[in-house]
Amino acid sequence: MGWNSWNTFGCGITEQIVRAQADALVSSGLRDAGYTYVVVDDCWMAPTRAEDGRLQADPVRFPSGMAALADYVHARGLGFGIYAGARGQTCAQFTGAYPGATGSGGHEQVDARTFAGWGVDFLKYDWCSSDTSHGTQVSAFTTMRDALRATGRPIVYSINPNSGVAGSVPGAEFDWGGIATMTRATNDITATWSTDSGPSGYQGVTDIVDAVAPLGSRVGPGAFVDPDMLVVGVGDTLTPADERTQMSMWAMLAAPLMAGNDLTTMSARTRAVLADAGVIGIDQDPRVQAGAPVGDDPEIFSRALGDKGLVVSLTNRADHPRTMSVALADLGFTGDTVVGVDAWTGVRHQASGGRLSVEVGVHDTALLRIE
Ligand code: GLA
Repeated sequence: MGWNSWNTFGCGITEQIVRAQADALVSSGLRDAGYTYVVVDDCWMAPTRAEDGRLQADPVRFPSGMAALADYVHARGLGFGIYAGARGQTCAQFTGAYPGATGSGGHEQVDARTFAGWGVDFLKYDWCSSDTSHGTQVSAFTTMRDALRATGRPIVYSINPNSGVAGSVPGAEFDWGGIATMTRATNDITATWSTDSGPSGYQGVTDIVDAVAPLGSRVGPGAFVDPDMLVVGVGDTLTPADERTQMSMWAMLAAPLMAGNDLTTMSARTRAVLADAGVIGIDQDPRVQAGAPVGDDPEIFSRALGDKGLVVSLTNRADHPRTMSVALADLGFTGDTVVGVDAWTGVRHQASGGRLSVEVGVHDTALLRIE
């Protein structure tokens, strides 16, 4: 769990912004709710390496340097994350949005040592090359994994094999669990309910749920499928129900929760969605077992929790409120002694006639912990 600069600040990120976001993680209570990594995404680098071959921070937007920024973040009880490209360029360089060619391909050892020396705790490692042969990807991502391990510093390794690739999603097509801590399995999320733009384009919340749902068997302690960042509070296109559904489904999928909104200006409602202890508790359940659709229904998922626990989500994708229900037999129960307690509202729903039924608003999700 943490915060990442990309969705709100893109290539405009500065050290002042990062410090303000770290402060806001603390003052808002989100750090104490579990959001503990501050990740600086693309565009922190100067467009060229230093004379000694090391990456260096952009002198205008990060004049104090990355080690000083890591110190600032650490002093607030947070972990510090950084971004790099696995081949010749970062993604913003690859698309021409940012100058330079300072990817880590061929520089893995020196870059890993530089990051560890700065106090980096999390590396987002992005592909962004048109050479997407499987062997090249495995070799490049493994080389950086080993370089990070060789530093001796524990560093979360978050990879994105998909960027730069038209028409395929290598993060979904292969199980990267032995190589990375977390692996992006889709292209970039956008703050919409659904885009129907297919696997290569920007994707809305429900597109991503559909794409990631079949990958649950890959998820376990230390190996997370990453459906991309939270768009809660990013822009104003999502309704409160849309936002609750994103949080609910990321929790059902045992997904990393990386906020991407401006924490210094967020509304009380955005904060409440991000900080909901019941939903976070489901997401972070120590059993680390991803949920899956009940039957083939994309609106209803179940997830095993802890010691014999179970949670069921019912998402209303229709454009009108409706009563949704799930058969207890499909959850492995008999009799009507089952109660579902909604993690968002605390409302208790008693089973009846062999089913759990609940009224769900447009695009909302009932997230029922089973008792
Ligand atoms: C890719 C990634 C994004 C972001 C940008 C930065 O598009 O998927 O999450 O890191 O690169 O350029």
